[in-house]
Amino acid sequence: MIIAIDGPAGSGKSTVARRVAKRLAFTYLDTGAMYRAVTWRALSCGIALDDVASLSRIAREEPIAFTHARDTWQPDLITIAGVDATSSIRTPEVDAAVSAVSAIPAVREALVEQQRAIARGTDIVMEGRDIGTVVFPAAELKVFLTASPEERARRRAGQNARRHTGETDPHAILSQIAERDRLDSARPTAPLVAASDALVLDSSKLEARQVAAVICRTAVERGATDPRAIRHAPPDAHPPSGTRRHPTGRSSHGRTWHIGHRGDPPQGADPSEDSHEA
Ligand code: DC
Repeated sequence: MIIAIDGPAGSGKSTVARRVAKRLAFTYLDTGAMYRAVTWRALSCGIALDDVASLSRIAREEPIAFTHARDTWQPDLITIAGVDATSSIRTPEVDAAVSAVSAIPAVREALVEQQRAIARGTDIVMEGRDIGTVVFPAAELKVFLTASPEERARRRAGQNARRHTGETDPHAILSQIAERDRLDSARPTAPLVAASDALVLDSSKLEARQVAAVICRTAVERGATDPRAIRHAPPDAHPPSGTRRHPTGRSSHGRTWHIGHRGDPPQGADPSEDSHEA
């Protein structure tokens, strides 16, 4: 089963998507981190944001890999071309440049192809902007998560303060968010828009746990296996058919999941350590 969670920056997608993945024992993919990784790689190689050919080559050829803590889906390590980009992709420089990079059709094409490959044969929660409209228009469950701009700015400020990175003034963030919403919604390729059959949820006044509960309930109604139901089932009960329980093509290693290309971990990084990022 594919659960697509789309929505604007700060709508709570990541927190909710990770909760849902954990609760349903699905794989999790943050596609925004892929656009950020390409952007960071370009900036760090001195590539101009209008150099479409070089940006597209990075998206096509430089492998992105995620190592997640298995119990929380917090990212332990994100690499591109084998280089650790875990915290660099959340800097203000990347925030400012990522909309331009993600508007390039060839960049999107390359990353969408990777996203589809990662999901093959897997129960997955995938979050982004165009998952329900472009990447998986036939996803079994599509969610469009919104929240008021003020609430989204407040959340992003708290997140940045906890991560010790980026802007922490909610007023400054509010104008950045408004600009990124405008760019993401107005671009001709895969704009940020709710799929016509998406479940639209406003998280302004709901906690992540409540939003995740609605999504999990709907997913189970549509055929997802509820691991809690299996745990509490009598010994001779069979799990409902129709969903696959474990991501294939990926390897579980200790307390981590690896997704995407598996190169050598960059020097100094220990992919088996859990992240404490909030
Ligand atoms: O979710 P995020 O803020 O980390 O996403 C970073 C940027 O990437 C955002 O400006 C929009 C873009 N993006 C996209 O165009 N399509 C996606 N599927 C995910 C993110």
